[in-house]
Amino acid sequence: MRTKIKQILHAKDPSSLIGKTVSVYGWIRTVRAQKTFAFIELNDGTTLANLQILADPSTIDFTQLTTGASLLAKGTLVESPGKNQALELKAETLSVLGPCSAETFPLQKKRHSFEFLRTIAHLRPRTNTQGAVLRIRSALALATHLFFNQRGFYYVQTPIITGSDCEGGGEMFRVTTLDKETDPSKDFFGKPAYLTVSGQLEGEILALALSDIYTFGPTFRAENSNTSRHLAEFWMIEPEMAFADLKDDMECAESYLKFCVKYVLEHCQEDLQFFDKFIENGLLTRLQHVAASPFAHLTYTHAVDILKKCGKTFEFPVEWGTDLQSEHERYLAEEHCKKPVILTDYPAAIKSFYMRGNDDGKTVAAMDVLVPKIGEIIGGSQREERLDILEQKIAEFGLNRDDYWWYLQLREYGSVPHAGFGLGFERLVLFTTGMENIRDVIPFPRYPGHAEF
Ligand code: 4AD
Repeated sequence: MRTKIKQILHAKDPSSLIGKTVSVYGWIRTVRAQKTFAFIELNDGTTLANLQILADPSTIDFTQLTTGASLLAKGTLVESPGKNQALELKAETLSVLGPCSAETFPLQKKRHSFEFLRTIAHLRPRTNTQGAVLRIRSALALATHLFFNQRGFYYVQTPIITGSDCEGGGEMFRVTTLDKETDPSKDFFGKPAYLTVSGQLEGEILALALSDIYTFGPTFRAENSNTSRHLAEFWMIEPEMAFADLKDDMECAESYLKFCVKYVLEHCQEDLQFFDKFIENGLLTRLQHVAASPFAHLTYTHAVDILKKCGKTFEFPVEWGTDLQSEHERYLAEEHCKKPVILTDYPAAIKSFYMRGNDDGKTVAAMDVLVPKIGEIIGGSQREERLDILEQKIAEFGLNRDDYWWYLQLREYGSVPHAGFGLGFERLVLFTTGMENIRDVIPFPRYPGHAEF
């Protein structure tokens, strides 16, 4: 039976494994040969550390034991004299499953740039950094399900192909089976269809039946944003709560973010220590601080005031009514508040049509969570539940009322106050790993000009 390297190196009681015969599979990281012993570092991706394998050099065909080759090692676990690991494997047999040409294998032992690694996304998961990113992604996905499940939310699935533009930005990928620009009524769905930018509108339908739901799926934006924070395909978690207002929304967002941070601190220590050492010095302290201290709160109006008076020159000037740029968001979180901050009550004109209007007639019950290093990580709002006001907003935003007939009916039949938010999953991975570029925290990034793999 196969024993995973994680089971060996993370065993609660390593001494209980001494003397056990095991079969271990993995990819060779390095081979060192000495007179009496050969040392092979084997990694199977289940954990960051390699398992050290000792073999008798007189029995080995070294031409096949190259970096990148896949190997089955059978042998006995013994106590390791090295200080890095408790156990190592004394091999009795070594079988190369798939050889790997040492001359042409692109992943040489040296450190490669992240830009280069993106060009070999089929091999980069075998690097330490990508392995750690992928394991943390997996832990964050599990933390998400645990958090919402513990709060009594139901996990729902919303469509990837949709006819409505949730964010109203018109930045959607069209889905068509037609060759040319023809009458959309002759197209596959009999109407124009797109890849969804958000599952929110359908999520609202389900929240107005089950009370509390969340979605977790891929979303698509055809915005031409060549930045380290934007992807054309990214994953979003969107909870939606019925009988809830903006306060409930903010409480849920803060608790969720903290839960995720605490979860990785508790379950991904080895990988986080790697990021702390090689990617962002001080990452662990930063995450502990996020988990322990309450988020700051500011209204948009107050934030604009702070930005105007702070004496810093920004690339984009700030005025009440303008959308905040990443440089502004980062200043507020990193320098002014020195921790995550929730901004509320944005001008209605710069936010989506579905956000609930405030009594001042100018702002909406929106909230964005801004965090150091990233800027916006969560965007959410209380939803407009009043039919007449929503109809007015749809008209003001120049949207086609017919596309939203069902959304409007939710306000006609048993409407309730409700609220929700969306968290960009890759931004959460950036935040918890200290990685700099969003293209390096999703295995197969999609961005302008890039859909390889
Ligand atoms: O602020 P956004 O556009 O909000 C929505 O889509 C709402 N429907 C959410 C809701 O209320 N249910 O996006 C939400 C989050 C952002 O805060 C950001 O973290 C992430 O999604 N995001 C992106 N992540 C990567 N690449 C992009 N192009 C992104 N656009 C938004």
